[in-house]
Amino acid sequence: MLTDHIRYSDQDHNLLLLDQRYLPMREETFACRHTADIIYALQTMVVRGAPAIGVTAAYGCCLALREVGEGKGWEEALAGKLQEIENARPTAVNLRWAVRRMREVWKGLEGIPAAGLAERWLLEAKTIHQQDIEANQAMGRFGADLIADGDTVLTHCNAGALATAGHGTAVGVIYSAWQQGKRIKVIADETRPFLQGARLTAYEVHKACIPVTVACDNACALLMHKGLVQKVVVGADRIAANGDAANKIGTFGVAIIAKEFGIPFYVAAPVSTIDPETLTGAEIPIEERPAREVTHVGDTQITPSEVPVYNFAFDVTPNRLIAGIITDKGVLRPPYTEAIKKLFEK
Ligand code: MRU
Repeated sequence: MLTDHIRYSDQDHNLLLLDQRYLPMREETFACRHTADIIYALQTMVVRGAPAIGVTAAYGCCLALREVGEGKGWEEALAGKLQEIENARPTAVNLRWAVRRMREVWKGLEGIPAAGLAERWLLEAKTIHQQDIEANQAMGRFGADLIADGDTVLTHCNAGALATAGHGTAVGVIYSAWQQGKRIKVIADETRPFLQGARLTAYEVHKACIPVTVACDNACALLMHKGLVQKVVVGADRIAANGDAANKIGTFGVAIIAKEFGIPFYVAAPVSTIDPETLTGAEIPIEERPAREVTHVGDTQITPSEVPVYNFAFDVTPNRLIAGIITDKGVLRPPYTEAIKKLFEK
């Protein structure tokens, strides 16, 4: 299992990230020493995927604390940097969730000197990191029960080990089903424009020796019509209190097509991706990314100059299209408002 793509070095106090921009062609490490490096890594997608950016943000808080030092006014300076980290990307709630969790620890230690907080925060970041792996493994066990021997599972974007601290959410379900001995196949949607499916899901699923085929995003209806897909499992960046789920642009279309063909469409996400403060999907902010991601493939321009493009990075799948939400605490079924309320009451 890929687990060293997010590594904190205790000796050098830097965060080492496998640079996802260059996969699958090159395995390069990107070192973050300062808050600015963390923000750059988040915004340019050196690291991406909701849980992975949450873990990165937690370590980012530790780097920010080292950066502000312990001189007069360090608390205000630190608060400003946490805000910057939290705002680096808007859609995935895990970023905010992780920074809030670090803030809560700080709040509980009122008056603590910077050195004491540094020690406590590093422990917290490592705990968040480890808990994410465990949550994914739990999700995998719950989700694997929904996958039958011989199924072909279609997934969109990359919700695998690379998008988390390890094992993955949607792809974690696939790994767990495979480990249980189910002979399954995977279809990885290409996922324009950043190609998370073609580059990242195909890379890691192939590395795990599970049969995987890449398909263009616009092949989804044909593949389902041909009977080549039995289940859809995708990840999520934020799930609203009513079960509406934001995920990579194109997910909504996959869900509509799956409904047409009676194919179960599942969302897999840890409880930290559910945001009870966001009541419906309409409230989820949708990130718009640079036009260049659409107008160019690598260094080659593919659209006429001066023609504008849309580059919304996410869309929201309404709860009515979701057969189940696989979490680390079990599989939620509709009606989701009740199921999510109960989950948080526990
Ligand atoms: O823009 P990205 O690559 O960060 O978007 C990632 C996704 O949409 C994933 O499907 C989602 O974060 C779930 S990751 C376990």
